[in-house]
Order: sequence, then structure tokens, then C-alpha cells
Amino acid sequence: NHSNCQCSHSNHSHDTDGRCQRCKKFCNKFECCLELNQNATPTPWTRQQAEQIRITSANAAPLIQEPFEDTAPDLWVWDTWPLREKDGSIAVLPGGWRVIFSLTAPRSVLPGKRHDIATIRYFYSRDGQDWIPGGVVFPAGDALGSRQWAGSAFVENGEIYFFYTATGRRNEAQVTYEQRMAFTKGEVFSNLNGVLFGNWEEHSIILVPDGIYYQTQEQSSGGIIYSFRDPWFWIDPESGCEYIIFEGNTATPQQPINRECNPENIGDGDFRSGNDVPNGSAQFNGNVGVALLRSSDYREWELLPPILEADCVNQQLERPHIVYVGGRYHLFIVSHKFTFAPGLEGPDGLYGFVANDFRGTYVPLGEGGLVVANPPEEPFQAYSWIVLPDLSTLSFINYYNLEGIGLNELPSLPDQFVFNHFGGTLAPTLQLSINGTQTQIVNELAQGLVMESSTEGAPFTPVCERTDHCGG
Ligand code: FRU
Repeated sequence: NHSNCQCSHSNHSHDTDGRCQRCKKFCNKFECCLELNQNATPTPWTRQQAEQIRITSANAAPLIQEPFEDTAPDLWVWDTWPLREKDGSIAVLPGGWRVIFSLTAPRSVLPGKRHDIATIRYFYSRDGQDWIPGGVVFPAGDALGSRQWAGSAFVENGEIYFFYTATGRRNEAQVTYEQRMAFTKGEVFSNLNGVLFGNWEEHSIILVPDGIYYQTQEQSSGGIIYSFRDPWFWIDPESGCEYIIFEGNTATPQQPINRECNPENIGDGDFRSGNDVPNGSAQFNGNVGVALLRSSDYREWELLPPILEADCVNQQLERPHIVYVGGRYHLFIVSHKFTFAPGLEGPDGLYGFVANDFRGTYVPLGEGGLVVANPPEEPFQAYSWIVLPDLSTLSFINYYNLEGIGLNELPSLPDQFVFNHFGGTLAPTLQLSINGTQTQIVNELAQGLVMESSTEGAPFTPVCERTDHCGG
């Protein structure tokens, strides 16, 4: 009955039983979170903004020089993520252990081949620096895909919630590049002696591209290879809504070859009208995707419109993640020089954006978005930066000491040359500082250092967990 409706929302309505519909909706976290995302449109990272990309003394990483340590002597180690608490802070397990997960492959394969046989292994450490190998995370044959690519993991009440990219299909005859996002849950065993994971539940595919917001493999045909990967679990501290953000591509009804650039992806006013966009740019359509949790077992997710799109700008916004500091949303991605659209120039680096709300307008950080660049003299020395809550940044050593040799020249050089110039180990951690949209690398720390760090959180009860929205 209407008079009993406690609904505090101004635009509430009543159903046929006279109950406050909107109030009822807001009692359901999923509905509440969905509502917050209604009418959301992605912020474009425009060509105009990307033209501002510059390597400066504030964003150029120090040169990585030998000797450096190998995180694992017989393994290539690349994309890495720490075990976190649900709120994003770095987990410290019983026994005092911090844990990292890495994509790995035996050092016997050429570095370029490693993506085809990537396996997730873990390492644990008490000082966050001397990493003890823990072995493979999943027993052989458990994980989906013919190999596993980057993901994320959190621990809660002794259980581990694990998200990863299932690439290709198990037992496929030839390597394929289908990408689906997968989930499993297991148990954490941790004491003074070390860390083990076990009792993994069945793995399930939780997200595939819908072809509406996110381009499918089929839709990408005739264009550049698509992405649908790198699931990053994240709770918005202001709403309490639980999301996966990921690397996607914008779906369009047209074939890649027939696309055109939308004005909003080019820039504003004079720039927009006076700018000739080079041919082929419209094929570049990277975005940062979003999915909303809809079941308590973490296996059901709803795809939502992306938060950021780089249509006509860049093909790959890789390993997206958000760091909430100073009450603002800092969205980071990594990208390559070779994935920028024609006419745009950006280094292999960490790029960032800041917004006042999760669904707000994301403004580029640093110079056109550039937060960490490889130094110009060694443009491929590191990759796959991931920013932790204390703004320290983990990455791996990629191709170093190339002295001007381009990546496209590597296949014609002796294998031994390639082996000798690929790091495959954790890079020195970099400490960043952020002031508004200005960012700076303020310190270079030990290789692979992960410090204990907590998230700031929001100073009130999250919107979708407040009972004052419930009535009727
Ligand atoms: C970034 C990346 C990820 C992917 C992985 C595959 O370095 O391309 O997007 O999960 O590498 O090796």
C-alpha cells in the first residue's frame, strides 16, 4: 500500500499490488547496480587526446640494466597479478605470505611462442620480494582453454575466487585464438611452511562476447584480431557493486573493413572538423569492458556497455584495472606502440584515466594518457604494468638491450640472440605519484616487489547496500 512505501527514491513507482516497485528493486543488489549503469555510455579516448602522448621525464621509466634476477630460473614469467582481498588490497595469508600469479612457460621455447603454451603458476613470499615458486595453480587438465591468459584472484574466508582467460579450446589440434573468461573457486592452505591451493571446483565459462557491445571472433574477421580477455575483479567502493572489467573490442554491425570513425572518437570542435583521419583507422576498436555480478556464486555476470572506448585510436586496451584513491577512479590499461591506429604514436606503456564516478567521464592522466613509458632507447624493455593500491607498479622485463633493433627484425636473427634479449622475469617495481591528472614515476624499487597495501575505501555505506533504499 502506497502510504507504507518507504521508498526514498524520487522516481519510484508502484506495482499493481501497490508496493513500491523501485524500492523493491533497490533491495536487490543486482537491480540496484544495474540501475546505476543505466544510460551509461563509454568515454571515448579520442584521437585528439592521444595526439598529446609524449614521453617526458615524469613518465619515462629508468633503463633496465643487467645484471637482474630471474624470478624463476627455468621459466619465462610475464603478466603477473597479486592475490588480493575482495576490496582490492594485497592479501597477507596466515604464515605472513603474499602471493603472486604469473603467466609462465618453460625457457626452452622462443619467447614469442610462450603465449601459445601459457600456464598460470604462483609464487609466495613474506617480504614481497623473494618469491618462492609454488608450482602450477591448477592440476593438469582442470583449466579451460588450450592455455590460460591473464586474470585476477581474491581470497575470502580461506577460499580463493579465481578469474582467468581461457584461450583456444582444450585439446585443439592447432593453436586457435578464441578468448573466453573463466572462473573457479578453491581453498587456500597456508601456514608458516608455505601456501597451497586445492579443492578447486569445476571451472566454468562466465563471459563470452555478445556481439552487441563486444566484438566476437567472427565479427573481427577481415580485420585485426579481437580481444575478450584479462578479467579483473573489482568492487566499486561507492556503490558496493561487483564488476569484472576486461579488454574488449567494440562490436559494430558492419564488417571491420566497412567501418567509419564516429566524430566523438576523433575529438572536439575545430579538431574534429579539420582532421583527416588516415585510412584504416576505423578498424582499431579497443575498449575496456564491464560485466556486473548477478549471482552469489560468482558464475553469473551481465555484460554492460564499456567504460572506455578507443575506437579509431587503439586496438588493445590490455589488462584494465581501477585504483580508487583520493575519492576518484583511476583506470589503467597497458598498450603497445603497434596497436595505435594510423597517424597516432604512443610507446609501449601504462596508460591511465581518471573519473569522479565509475560511470563518469574518464580524463586522460599524464600526457594524453601516458603514465609509464619505456625509455626511448629501449622501447620494449618492460610490459604489462599493473598498479597496486599504493600506486606501486609491477611489470615484467620484456625485450631489453636491443640497441635499436625492432621487434619485427627478431624472427630473422639467430634464436640465441632472441633468448639473450628477452627478460621473462619481474621488472623493478616503480612507485608512482598522482596529483589530479598529473602523474610521476617517483622511485624505482626492487624487482617484483609487492608491498602490503590496503585500499582507501569509500567513507560511507555503499549505495547498493544501504537499507534506506528498501521499503514497501
Ligand atoms: C598482455 C597480454 C594479455 C594476455 C597475455 C597473453 O601482455 O597480451 O592481454 O592475457 O598477454 O600472454
